[in-house]
Amino acid sequence: MIARAKTGVAFALLLGCGLAITAAAVTSLVAQSAQPAAAPAADSEAVARGQATFGSSCGFCHGSKATGTEQAPNLLRSPLVTQDHDGDKLAPFLKEGRPSLGMPSFASLPPAQVSDVAAFLHNQLRTTRRNRLPETALLVGDAKAGEAYYNGAGKCSTCHSVKGDLAGIGGKLQPLALTTSFLTPPAQPIKVSATLPSGKVITGTLEYVDEFTISMNDASGLYHTWPRKYLKSLSMVDPLAAHKKQLLNYTDKDIHDLLAYLVTIK
Ligand code: HEC
Ligand code: HEC
Repeated sequence: MIARAKTGVAFALLLGCGLAITAAAVTSLVAQSAQPAAAPAADSEAVARGQATFGSSCGFCHGSKATGTEQAPNLLRSPLVTQDHDGDKLAPFLKEGRPSLGMPSFASLPPAQVSDVAAFLHNQLRTTRRNRLPETALLVGDAKAGEAYYNGAGKCSTCHSVKGDLAGIGGKLQPLALTTSFLTPPAQPIKVSATLPSGKVITGTLEYVDEFTISMNDASGLYHTWPRKYLKSLSMVDPLAAHKKQLLNYTDKDIHDLLAYLVTIK
């Protein structure tokens, strides 16, 4: 039950964002799920000192556990923190801060204290990773219902085949990556078909478009740019339009069921 509730919240968040969901957000979701390499044991005294410093200097804004507040971001999701080693990224950052964005400069914090704060943050990261549920906790759906959705309401089978392009996908991708792959597949170029005044049709992929101008590369790699009103007709098709639309329609159950089905495609 706990597993269901947790993943339910994750998906609700994903869906709550609707179209605003970005590949970056999804990538970070996936990155976070990766199991950490065996981490070196933390120096517990440094962690304790760092916790005290963090509590007095940073916790007010970032929260005592560094998981963020309304005022400041969750540092356990910060690339700067995850890429830091013993303060090498944190120290230069704290010297400057980002005062214009509400992050003060801590230029006077001694290097030893920065190093302790780093030890505390890395320990927090390790702890949250250890407590994270394994990805198999996502597998609470009903594969039969997922198959029905795939062939029915989801219309997946109109574009895909589990014996063709999706063959073996359940063996290739771990559950979280698999979920990401059908919720938000990697961006695809927009397909363009432009009819010139002569009636000649040029097809290719979109490079740029605004109200007045369109630029594209045709199949032979030639670059074209035209005023839009010069063209007799113009069509632009996003190969992922169906996916983007579906993102707004899924229920939490649909996603779990689909995943349960797709993992069986081995
Ligand atoms: C007055 C509130 C405040 C305090 C105190 C504060 N921060 Fe911040 N911090 C912020 C805000 C707001 C941001 C986001 C700035 C932005 O939008 O780029 C931030 C950003 C950061 C980031 C960058 C996150 C990222 O990935 O972009 C790090 C790291 C950080 N703070 C660490 C600390 C540490 C360590 C301390 C204590 C020594 C501290 N902060 C104290 C408000 C604060
Ligand atoms: C209108 C056509 C269309 C429909 C409907 C559609 N897709 Fe897709 N899907 C695509 C295209 C185009 C891509 C991107 C190209 C590719 O990776 O095959 C894609 C990509 C994917 C991928 C990523 C494949 C990979 O190898 O990275 C998965 C998984 C997927 N779709 C699953 C689904 C599921 C599940 C549904 C039903 C809920 C669905 N698709 C509905 C067209 C469609």
